[in-house]
Amino acid sequence: MTEHAAPTTVGQFSASNDAESAFYYPPAALVENSNVLAYAREKGFADVEAMRQWSIEHYQDFWADMATRMVDWYMPFSKVLDDSKAPFYQWFNDGKINIVHNALDRHVKTWRKNKLALIWESEKGDNKTYSYWQLFKRVNKFANVLKSMGVKKGDTVTIYLPRVPEIVIAMLACAKIGAMHSVVYGGFSVEALQTRIQDAQSRVVITADGGYMNGKVVELKKITDDAIKHSPVVEIVIVVKRTGHEVEMQQGRDLWYEELMALPIASTKCETEQLDAEHPLYMLYTSGTTGAPKGLVHTHGGYQVGVATTLHFNLDIKEDDVYWCAADPGWVTGHSYIVYGPLMLGATQVMYEGAPTFPFPNRWWNIVERYGVTVLYTAPTAIRGLMRFGEAWPNRHDLGSLRLLGSVGEPINPEAWRWYHRVIGRNNCPIMDTWWQTETGSMMITPNPTTPLKPGSGTRASFGIDADVVNDQGEHASDDEDGLLIIRNPWPSMLRTIYNNPERYIEQYWSRIPGVYTAGDSARKDEDGYFWVIGRIDDVIKVSGYRLGTAEVESALVSHPSVAEAAAIGLPHEVKGNAIHTFVILKNGYEANQDLEDALIAHVGKVMGPIARPEAVQFVPSLPKTRSGKIMRRVLKARALGLPEGDLSTLEQ
Ligand code: WTA
Repeated sequence: MTEHAAPTTVGQFSASNDAESAFYYPPAALVENSNVLAYAREKGFADVEAMRQWSIEHYQDFWADMATRMVDWYMPFSKVLDDSKAPFYQWFNDGKINIVHNALDRHVKTWRKNKLALIWESEKGDNKTYSYWQLFKRVNKFANVLKSMGVKKGDTVTIYLPRVPEIVIAMLACAKIGAMHSVVYGGFSVEALQTRIQDAQSRVVITADGGYMNGKVVELKKITDDAIKHSPVVEIVIVVKRTGHEVEMQQGRDLWYEELMALPIASTKCETEQLDAEHPLYMLYTSGTTGAPKGLVHTHGGYQVGVATTLHFNLDIKEDDVYWCAADPGWVTGHSYIVYGPLMLGATQVMYEGAPTFPFPNRWWNIVERYGVTVLYTAPTAIRGLMRFGEAWPNRHDLGSLRLLGSVGEPINPEAWRWYHRVIGRNNCPIMDTWWQTETGSMMITPNPTTPLKPGSGTRASFGIDADVVNDQGEHASDDEDGLLIIRNPWPSMLRTIYNNPERYIEQYWSRIPGVYTAGDSARKDEDGYFWVIGRIDDVIKVSGYRLGTAEVESALVSHPSVAEAAAIGLPHEVKGNAIHTFVILKNGYEANQDLEDALIAHVGKVMGPIARPEAVQFVPSLPKTRSGKIMRRVLKARALGLPEGDLSTLEQ
């Protein structure tokens, strides 16, 4: 039996770890050795909770301290926050920095030069490793290739790659020369890729011949070719050879990555651009309330401070950890906590190419055992998916190396939390349930290793973050009252704007309650001040942790010749969290039948990508709409769940 932290080290809580207690206490040794406790002690605080409260009250002092400790600057900043153009906040804006300097350059000047940065395992089981030095050299080479293609500071490069080391290399190479990357998740398809290339106006696209998932080839190059047919802006396509199957290469436009990397222009020496802190690092498209996905913009300076701080304090990454974030680099979790965060901290990390159940449902546990993974960060949907196969699979493996677990992407149901804690963590690894968003850049509401946990709650706001739950009028909600999740103060890793659409940035995030950031989630706080995130209040559906807009699914359906009108809603699903259900009005002359339903499901999968495939298509004669013509998805959802339909006063008669 492990000894657990004495109540005095965890703040004002006094319960113990017995069955009666609502709390799970972290192991005493883990608390004692945590990065966050060391910092609190150094600063002279009685406990971590006191430090957390100070960090929120004095958030500018806290972030200034983090910006100095966690990262290096070419030129130090003199001003922490510039709010003169709020909500277009600027952080550290007279400092000069580059995230690649902190992720690679500074390490190769130390003993970490030879430390393993990345251990990559393919779905087939072979692996590739990169020391910091090797990764540094590869990034330099590819940065020179990009430069030779005319890519320069301020340009945007679209990256559409599977989970291979080249995605990390490509992203870092862009950042190194001050170009923005726009990564499109490899599970998206033609339409999604095309709109993102167009909006970003990328001249250069980086893709692969294909990727592996579940033993099958994903035809990335073919999808890219189709997307580019409608994107005249693209001049160059760089193709990584992954599967080796035959693909069409268009003369003068398509070039093999490996061949470019062998040319003399791909020199291993490349200066890192010294950039303003507010220089854009990337944009990442995400689904919003209405219309087309929006390109959220993150910058070099503040973003890296937020990411490095949270990885250090909340996932407690240390020099000797073997860290594994099982997300996709094409998702914000992968951007922050695979590509940039671990490298900034000089950590060793594992990256796995394929499906968790390939070839058998013990694949992940096998990886944990073989590499001695110490910190695992994943999504509830993956836990639920693996839980279905039973305990025998993980029990075949020695998971004793694990010391801390993380969860992200959607609320984790207590049943999955307990399974993750007991079976994977052997009752000995606290779970950091981290709430955040593409917009926030890094973790916002999350436990740290010293926090007493409640299954299903993200506990409290993280350091320097002033989060709350309010009612529609913006007033602080009482305990256990559902309300809107908001953030009162700006934070360094916040999005800066929506690409090409600053008005939408203000309207979407800063208008509902003037002066505060509205996240788009509903939540409540309990009597201990713990947050319970309920879910989205807009038309975003979280499917297996991926964020999809009802508008995108509907537009994919309407692009089929048989469909006159369509509506999409999310309904609860045991593994995926939510599944997409759709309602379709057919055009005259089309007959509603099973074949057409199958064809429509396949059509959405082809246009948007497999993750967006609807669970069901229901043919209907009409859709409930407001008098102004907006589909009332709320009513459809209530009907589907057999719940009261609520206020129908605006329903069209
Ligand atoms: C949801 C993912 C509950 C939430 C990093 C948020 C969560 C949206 C959690 C952002 C969590 C994320 N508990 N809900 N721990 N983490 N969410 O932009 O609805 O893909 O607004 O960023 O995911 O999704 P996004």
